[in-house]
Amino acid sequence: MPDKFAIVLAAGQGTRMKSKLYKVLHPVCGKPMVQHVVDSLNRLDTNRIVVVVGHGAEKVKEQLGDNIEYVMQEEQLGTAHAVMQVASLLKDKPGTTLVLSGDEPLISSQTLEALVSHHEASGAAGTILTRVMESPTGYGRIIRGADGLVERIVEQKDATEQERAVREINTGTYCFDNEKLFKALDKVSNANAQGEYYLTDVIQILKGAGEKIEASITEEITVGVNDRVALARAEALMRERILNHHMRQGVTVIDPHNTYIQADVTIGRDSVIYPGTIIEAGTVIGEDCIIGPQTQLKNCQVGDGVEIKQSVLADSRIDNGATVGPFAYVRPGSHLGENVKVGDFVEIKNTTIGKGSKVSHLTYLGDAEIGQDVNVGCGTVTVNYDGVRKHKTVVKDHSFIGCNANLVAPVTVGEGAYVAAGSTITKDVPDGSLAVARERQTNKEDYAKKIIKK
Ligand code: UD1
Ligand code: CA
Repeated sequence: MPDKFAIVLAAGQGTRMKSKLYKVLHPVCGKPMVQHVVDSLNRLDTNRIVVVVGHGAEKVKEQLGDNIEYVMQEEQLGTAHAVMQVASLLKDKPGTTLVLSGDEPLISSQTLEALVSHHEASGAAGTILTRVMESPTGYGRIIRGADGLVERIVEQKDATEQERAVREINTGTYCFDNEKLFKALDKVSNANAQGEYYLTDVIQILKGAGEKIEASITEEITVGVNDRVALARAEALMRERILNHHMRQGVTVIDPHNTYIQADVTIGRDSVIYPGTIIEAGTVIGEDCIIGPQTQLKNCQVGDGVEIKQSVLADSRIDNGATVGPFAYVRPGSHLGENVKVGDFVEIKNTTIGKGSKVSHLTYLGDAEIGQDVNVGCGTVTVNYDGVRKHKTVVKDHSFIGCNANLVAPVTVGEGAYVAAGSTITKDVPDGSLAVARERQTNKEDYAKKIIKK
């Protein structure tokens, strides 16, 4: 097996995006475009992956991490110029080199594998991944000779009217014989409409040197994202791909047109996702869950048989059999144990709730540790903030918090203890005792009659 290298072009500013964010960092289904590209490459067995960075280099490196190599392109003089920056690393190495664009997030590892196999089987010096499109505007066109073989690629801006009518386009993904690629790059000039060094010119140069050029036509829809219109299109296509994947794995999606599941989400079999639900990257959901409608989950670990309705949850863990919502807000750092019930209009923040406990309605629990089988009555509030610092509330197993209680932290309610409804608890409550912290009721008899007489 020859060595396999990959070069990802990611140095451009992406002017057409009209954005403060560098183009290749724009997310598609929650993941930056260039990360999609590198993830596809990582599923292949490449020897080296080199990313060409320029605009936003530090941010791109931060995103992609240290497991790959980077080369700096100080000035963005074109895609050929970008690949030339890698010469010092790869130039004289025998092998096969994939070249990809950081703005083509839909290229899958299967497509890349097919491209490499086609390339290696044909013995070509270069193989272009091409696609036939209804409306090819903006893309480089594949120009074939009378023999049907690829002769060159012409960019939209340099194309004649006749060439623009060609519907076979360059996806910006290629496979090259590594040494031949770098030799051809030395001959690329910038005499074209954009005054850039086009990587696409390498095709014509290799062909002129008597080398064989191949095109691998893919059926997979790919999008080169240059502006926000293309970004939305890539998002829609990726979303459909992700949803189809989950459905094929045994997840029911009631309405795929109204369900948003980002990349890198795991969902177990027989879970059902109702409309209006957004499941963001990093979330893992078990089997037999009911999620939605109108629910947003971000980076949550959800067990089996969990039900979450009309709620927003982030950076939290929900164990088997728990139910959340409707209309609950579970904020970062929370952990709901097995069979916990968090009901309507309940906000939970940085709080652990033990197995079997119930927080059924209209409650705020922040920075609290609630034990097992605790009943937290309607309207309970942990008073966790003194204006400067946050304090912890501890409620031990089997205790009962009456409705409308304030638990002024730091405070502990002991095991099996009771807090009377309407109490404002400022002192610890010992195990098994009842705390009443409110005015005793006084009844003024015949008050109504007296007031009428006056
Ligand atoms: C390029 C192709 C075109 C193809 C299309 C597919 C060329 C000349 N044209 O056009 O044939 O149909 O992709 O999407 O290659 N980049 C650098 N340094 C540079 C210039 C670009 O790193 O100096 C990077 C960009 O960040 C981007 C990628 O290369 O990720 C492609 O550049 P872009 O300007 O988007 O090329 P297109 O005009 O889309
Ligand atoms: Ca592009």
